[in-house]
Amino acid sequence: MPESSSPRALWGSRIGFILAAAGSAVGLGNIWKFPYITGNNGGGAFVLVYLICIALVGLPIMMAELMIGRYTRRDAVGAFRTLARPGSPWRLAGWISILAAFVILSYYSVVAGWTLEYILRAVQGAFRTPATTGTVETAEQVRALFDGLIESGPRQLLWHFLFIGVCLGIVIGGVQKGIERWSKILMPLLLGLLALLFVNGMLSDGARQAWVFMFRPDFSKLTSGAVLEALGHAFFTLSLGMAAMITYGSYLSRAENLFASGLRIALLDTVIALIAGLAIFPIVFSAGMQPGAGPGLVFQTIPVVFSNLPGGNILALLFFLLLAFAALTSAISLLESQVAYLIDERDWGRKRATAFLAGLAFLVGIPSALSSNLLQHITPIANLGVFDSIDLIASNYLLPISGLLTALYVGWFWSDQEEKQELMADGSVWIYPLWHFLIRFVAPIAVGIILYYKIEETGLFAFFAGLF
Ligand code: PFF
Repeated sequence: MPESSSPRALWGSRIGFILAAAGSAVGLGNIWKFPYITGNNGGGAFVLVYLICIALVGLPIMMAELMIGRYTRRDAVGAFRTLARPGSPWRLAGWISILAAFVILSYYSVVAGWTLEYILRAVQGAFRTPATTGTVETAEQVRALFDGLIESGPRQLLWHFLFIGVCLGIVIGGVQKGIERWSKILMPLLLGLLALLFVNGMLSDGARQAWVFMFRPDFSKLTSGAVLEALGHAFFTLSLGMAAMITYGSYLSRAENLFASGLRIALLDTVIALIAGLAIFPIVFSAGMQPGAGPGLVFQTIPVVFSNLPGGNILALLFFLLLAFAALTSAISLLESQVAYLIDERDWGRKRATAFLAGLAFLVGIPSALSSNLLQHITPIANLGVFDSIDLIASNYLLPISGLLTALYVGWFWSDQEEKQELMADGSVWIYPLWHFLIRFVAPIAVGIILYYKIEETGLFAFFAGLF
């Protein structure tokens, strides 16, 4: 078992680790993206496929990442450097995952910034109901609010700056006094807010329709594209392929049972995504609106629905606070993964590393914030704008490539003995053969298929074929 020279920071408690790792997993992906892709893909059958993907692909890879981190006690680059020989392709996995964390943080923070604007608007009473103010917040007004925001470079930059600043403030405090402490505050708040919104959804007229929509599968609505989307989302939502789980695993005590930890984190993430759907769809249905509103579901449809409900402004405030907390605990894991690299591999101090990387994330996020205004005519890839192009590179290529390398390495090249020890500190050997089968065959094949289709979809094969 490799040990590094300096004593490594560890989580202070099991619950602290679970909340921090679940905080990384539960993010905009759960509350913003999961409901809208479920809506776009027709509901129940998509949800079922998504659950299968989490269990058979996401969970085994999450355990593999936690395992690599805890075994090596290093950041993602250092972990693969410790495990693989110089010049071996496995080392690439570490680099790609850190690069993914870097790229994703830069634009994740821009979207997180939008939630801050909505919080401010809610505080100002922008979503007040007609009965209390006499103003009807129409769909047009909400659309104008959203368009006004994305058309304004300076406003988005300001929010992006503030959001990165908050991440910096937390990560600079370190593993226990920064990340763990804040996860223990933010995650219970997030769960409380979600519970309130869930109860509100269940009491509304559309509750039954929402249950049916989400849990009665209609396989005629399931397309092959939906299956791919479910698989890709399972990856993103569990924070896989971007160094986060390797880094968080590296602070985990050897006494912890990795299998049980991975299971708890994935369960929390999944249950929260489902509850977010059950909080959102009932009110969408009771307002007679469509669930397949796309990415605008949360920023455009939901505020309109809220503004027509009694007490809607408070609900809107709670909802956007929930979204901001979820984004924050995810973003800090992206920043921490990069900070760990500078500390472990380059011997930087935490303060300097955090300040440097947060500054860089702000600068690199600028084009994303300007993507829908100043830079709207710039289309680096196909006809996608800057923001979508960066998202495409990170989510469609970097994440699956690093996930595939991780699954292949752990499935085929790491010693079974070491894996068994890592997975089951408590000796519950029964799960090993199942996990090993999934990480060896099922996960690499599934991730390989996503990668193939993503590459084909963006015409990269055709591009290379054209070169010869
Ligand atoms: N899992 C987060 C979400 O669902 O929003 C996104 C994310 C966070 C991805 C942290 C990757 C990561 F390292």
